[in-house]
Amino acid sequence: MESLEIGKIKIRVPIIQGGMGIAISKSGLASAVANQGGVGVISAAGIGMTEPDFEKNSRGANRRALRSEIQKTRSLTKGVIGVNLMVALSDYDELLKISVEEKVDIVFMGAGLPLKLPDFVMEMGFDAIHTRFVPKVSSAKAAKLIFQYWSQKFNHIPDAVVVEGPLAGGHLGFKMEELTGDVVPLNQLIRETVEILKEYKTPEGLEIPVIAAGGIYTGVDVVEIMKAGAKAVKLGTRFVTTHECDADLAFKQSYINSSEKDITLIQSPVGLPGRVIDSEFVQQIKRGETKPFNCPWKCLKNCNYKEVPYCISKVLLNSAEGKMDDGFAFAGYNAYRATKIVFVKEIFDDLIHGYDAEILKNQSLLKIGGVSSRAKVAV
Ligand SMILES: Cc1cc2nc3c(=O)[nH]c(=O)nc-3n(C[C@H](O)[C@H](O)[C@H](O)COP(=O)(O)O)c2cc1C
Repeated sequence: MESLEIGKIKIRVPIIQGGMGIAISKSGLASAVANQGGVGVISAAGIGMTEPDFEKNSRGANRRALRSEIQKTRSLTKGVIGVNLMVALSDYDELLKISVEEKVDIVFMGAGLPLKLPDFVMEMGFDAIHTRFVPKVSSAKAAKLIFQYWSQKFNHIPDAVVVEGPLAGGHLGFKMEELTGDVVPLNQLIRETVEILKEYKTPEGLEIPVIAAGGIYTGVDVVEIMKAGAKAVKLGTRFVTTHECDADLAFKQSYINSSEKDITLIQSPVGLPGRVIDSEFVQQIKRGETKPFNCPWKCLKNCNYKEVPYCISKVLLNSAEGKMDDGFAFAGYNAYRATKIVFVKEIFDDLIHGYDAEILKNQSLLKIGGVSSRAKVAV
């Protein structure tokens, strides 16, 4: 696989681990991925929920926990690390500032359009900031909107963009009806985004790297999506069933025990569909049962916390801690394909070997095609 640069950050293997909240991708998984030459990503969502003072001082707990998780990751790897920040978080600006102060290499901005940037970014100036900013979108149109807005408002454009298709895990940027039946293929979304961003160039005059996410599982998938124009891939689901993933074993086991029919969709209380593994808990919420809770603070800007049937953050933390009777596992469409827990290195080896084998196969097919067409001419 060809290495990649995002901003001036060199990424030896163009495999990015998707940030997974709550408490699924922390320093353990992020450092293991970065040590393989990919990009390891800490999820900032709800990161302070396990701090002792979270109920009284949620914002402070989140800030402290993110800073210490970044520092812990840095102590475990010299590789490229990122933070995944949801635009929908009430303390998005503060957590972005912590990430910049801690000189995280890349911040991925998803779950909402990152049109605005906090004032401190303009005050510092992009050139003085080590961190590169990479939005995550679900359509070429959304990518274009962000690039137009940033170039007009900030005279600066994002360093790359992630396009996440409908087969991904977690909250999805599609309507429920777009997720059932025939879904839009990821390679179509990638082609459209590459095309629409052609008018923009990096400071070095290169194309803006488009990163593909959602349903990528094998080296063959990587070849296919790169043919469509992606320069890197971002995988979440495949990295869950690793020894290094920070979730409890019961969470990982729910992937291994699942079959294709168990991968299902829910309407999350934050107003977005989410893909999960079916369970008794999922059936309860699908039946409309409520799970009363106290909200120490409104962690998501748009959460109508007095009306929603359950707290999505608490439910996700429960499952990350292995309390599968009180939570559900977010999961991509391919979650059922995992059969055992492996090391992150084994996934990298499998992806790279699968990729190389597919490229070789394609080249030999081309040669055979070439010979036979010459042969035809000769006849
Ligand atoms: C368990 C899980 C939790 C996730 N949590 C988040 C999250 O908190 N914020 C976010 O922007 N994306 C989240 N994602 C999406 C991933 O970052 C990534 O884009 C996605 O998993 C890629 O698709 P794949 O799972 O098919 O590989 C999550 C995905 C999974 C599987």
